[in-house]
Amino acid sequence: MSIDLAVIGGSGLYNFPGLENAQRQSVETPFGPASGDVVTGDFAGKQLAFLARHGESHSLPPHRVNYRANLWALHQLGARRVVGVNAVGGIRDDMGPRVIVVPDQVIDYTHGRFTSFCDVEGAEVKHIDFSEPYTASLRRDLLAAAARAGVPAIDGGCYGATQGPRLETRAEIARMKRDGCDLVGMTGMPEAALARELELEYACLALVANFAAGCGDEEEISIEEIFAHLAAATAEVPKILAAMLAG
Ligand code: HPA
Repeated sequence: MSIDLAVIGGSGLYNFPGLENAQRQSVETPFGPASGDVVTGDFAGKQLAFLARHGESHSLPPHRVNYRANLWALHQLGARRVVGVNAVGGIRDDMGPRVIVVPDQVIDYTHGRFTSFCDVEGAEVKHIDFSEPYTASLRRDLLAAAARAGVPAIDGGCYGATQGPRLETRAEIARMKRDGCDLVGMTGMPEAALARELELEYACLALVANFAAGCGDEEEISIEEIFAHLAAATAEVPKILAAMLAG
């Protein structure tokens, strides 16, 4: 099957709006089950594959997502370009709720996740170059498409991946800020590294749901507000991807 683009949907994106002639594919992987079926269909005149990272009913917390199975399944179906859509908290002042960012760097604070396809008996050990964690050409295409679609998107930023599922303390975010993180999310890693191991093109569309702890004016972060902001930002995603596929 020829897939023009695969999309991994994060919190708030459990099915892909506008996907026509959709078909479900359940893919067996050597790493166990993916988060759910991969749904393939027509979008903007091209073949799109969609996978809900947390499952279609959001039953998988970030640390229990089978990232290896997800990437493997998409690769197995023939996907070569993957966009990960991730809900994030904004750390940088200009990255407040509803802002869309295409990050260019990552710092991984997660632990206890399977971070490599080499992590099985007898597998060949592969050391990948990860200086640039996201594929430059795919990042450029996303940003150009957002501009054509009239959707503002910020070019670059450092995504700090935390373990979750709880949000961070103010001290943790203050440390991340000192480290150079602009955004914080729970699912950006190991997804990006696994995509690189499979030689997939991969980029992240980060949707800011809230200011991270201690960064905005709010004393506390409201989970209801997070989902309201996410819904607004998520509505822009198909516009960007339609412009990219049509372009
Ligand atoms: N922290 C981590 N992940 C997130 C946040 C946050 O504040 N908001 C949305 N995803």
